Amino acid sequence: MILQECRGGALHGTYQVERAGSVSGELRPPGDKSVSHRAVIFGGIARGRTEITGFLNSADCEGTLRAFLSMGVGVDRISPHRLILESPGLSQLSEPRDVLDFGNSGTAVRLMTGLLSGVPGFRVLTGDESLRSRPMRRVTEPLSRMGALLDGRKDGSLLPLSVRGARLSPITYDNVHRSAQVKSAILLAGLSASGPSTVIEEVQTRDHTERLLPRFGGRVEVRENRVTVWPSELAGTDIVVPGDISSAAFFIALALLVPGSALTLSGVGLNPTRTAFLDILSLMGAAIDSRPDPAGEGGEPFGTLGVSFRELSSCTVPLSMIPSAIDEIPVLAVLAAFANGRTEIRGAGELRVKESDRIAAMVAALRTVGVTVEEFPDGLAVLGLGPDRVLRGGRIDSRHDHRIAMAMAVLATRLPRGESLLITGTDFVETSFPGFPALFNAVARP
Ligand code: S3P
Repeated sequence: MILQECRGGALHGTYQVERAGSVSGELRPPGDKSVSHRAVIFGGIARGRTEITGFLNSADCEGTLRAFLSMGVGVDRISPHRLILESPGLSQLSEPRDVLDFGNSGTAVRLMTGLLSGVPGFRVLTGDESLRSRPMRRVTEPLSRMGALLDGRKDGSLLPLSVRGARLSPITYDNVHRSAQVKSAILLAGLSASGPSTVIEEVQTRDHTERLLPRFGGRVEVRENRVTVWPSELAGTDIVVPGDISSAAFFIALALLVPGSALTLSGVGLNPTRTAFLDILSLMGAAIDSRPDPAGEGGEPFGTLGVSFRELSSCTVPLSMIPSAIDEIPVLAVLAAFANGRTEIRGAGELRVKESDRIAAMVAALRTVGVTVEEFPDGLAVLGLGPDRVLRGGRIDSRHDHRIAMAMAVLATRLPRGESLLITGTDFVETSFPGFPALFNAVARP
């Protein structure tokens, strides 16, 4: 096995990964995390029955589901990836008896803060150590302007947050952080405001909220760079969640890096606000065959990707592509290490406030294995030495960040034979990608 998962003892939560000789086969990435959260949130507030197929049963999304269970929403679990929600409707959500714990998930806690701001009742929202240190002011400030009654540590900028549902006024808000979470929090609060609310985006962020809300009967209008939501009563519907392109990214990278590889990924979400990673790879010379499935038209697009080994060249990542590739930057940095030339990634300061400081984490991890990296406040530059470069094994800390752990597992497949990389803190991979080690070993062989 290329990737050994250590469980129990001193090495619990550690991967040991070594060189792969070939990567081939066909796989379907797990359900999209952003869409799974939203499917549960909208299904949880839409009166009646919502059936979700393709749900991501990761720790993060299960946390969102538990929150709705504790507010009176019925959940019938047909399988790990298929469930039926039965909701009394937004205004009828009950007061949970305990705090709502969203674990590691910034998406869940920020969207739910917006949503619950306009729902009668008292709730306290919190999360794990990482989430409790992440900035919440970006949502509490605009929501407070709408009339939300919020409080929290450091004057409402850190979890735990208390939310007392209030009558909200509409807002027009400039999405300065270029954050889909902030946009979605405001749109969700807007559902119970007294008039239409608008979010203005200089650079478009992922648009799952705008695409999904109308499916539940919500009134949303997108005009140029303005998204407007009207107060709406939602009704349950059926939702199919596509595969997560952010999870697929690790396997795309694997196939690009290991000579002789050919991999097919099916059911991958191809929403254009999520595919900048593929555009950046094509700038670097990758030839990825993308075949959209007509069944995705009009909803969340998805399709099949064919990827094979390529010698990559470096690039300067265009600033406009950063928001739509933000979660893929750790694995992009890994690819850059094996490209010919210097790859520069700037305008990505948001990476410092993700599940870990992803700029610092990648810089430290890449340096440990022998890659030359420059660190900037808003990004990094990686000196790529081509596909034949020789690195060294060692031990790196994923900082309990799932994407750092998976990106470095991909890198380790290019270590010299006999060397390996120990990656600590990998138990958090479960937050977005349950079953990652098994899928990795199914396609990567010695
Ligand atoms: C997400 C938005 C992004 C992304 C996160 C999921 C979402 O965060 O990094 O993994 O589902 O809306 P920001 O909105 O903070 O950029």
